[in-house]
Amino acid sequence: MCVVALIFLLSSLYLSATTEASKCSIDGFPLVKNISELPQDNYGRAGLSHIILAGSLLHGMKEIEVWLQTFAPGSRTPIHRHSCEEVFVVLKGSGNLYLASNSHGKYPGSPQVFPIFANSTFVIPVNDAHQVWNTNDQEDMQVLVVVSRPPVKVFVYEDWLMPHTAAKLKFPYYWDEPCFEAPATVRDEL
Ligand SMILES: *[C@@H]1O[C@H](CO)[C@@H](O)[C@H](O)[C@H]1NC(C)=O
Ligand SMILES: *[C@@H]1O[C@H](CO)[C@@H](O)[C@H](O)[C@H]1NC(C)=O
Repeated sequence: MCVVALIFLLSSLYLSATTEASKCSIDGFPLVKNISELPQDNYGRAGLSHIILAGSLLHGMKEIEVWLQTFAPGSRTPIHRHSCEEVFVVLKGSGNLYLASNSHGKYPGSPQVFPIFANSTFVIPVNDAHQVWNTNDQEDMQVLVVVSRPPVKVFVYEDWLMPHTAAKLKFPYYWDEPCFEAPATVRDEL
């Protein structure tokens, strides 16, 4: 390979590496951000739009992380738990919150159903299995979500009868994958 080609190859590798890094750094973000101009993605989940308003890996947040999520009619989160606090504010639409307390038994069991609606707010207790579902077949449901202790470590259940110990850890979570660097050696079992 000639020297010019080698230099070209090395400099393009360097460029792509720095472009990659700047996407995940707190530098370069304006203090006031226009939400309409922030990246949004469904991260592989049909009907979801997820926008990181203030992220741990993305923006250097230490204590909390804030998301704006929109669920198309019929779409929902998986049944899951995480060992952080989570606060929801429903901005638009309506749906159901399914919540099972982890304090009894080896699996979540039948969840309680709570109707949620525009201008409602709720807190998910630490480690309680839950699911948020847009049950309205006409309208999108939009929620503002605040979680503590980011980046979030999510344990996913296939159903409400799956033992807590069998729930599958997804870490880094889908939206944290692009900015996650360290090896995923996390112990966060119940
Ligand atoms: C925010 O971004 C949207 C989409 O680019 C744009 O239409 C709107 O004018 C922006 N708002 C302000 C105040 O700049
Ligand atoms: C939400 O509730 C607050 C407190 O009652 C009220 O001021 C506000 O207008 C409500 N917003 C909507 C969109 O209903």
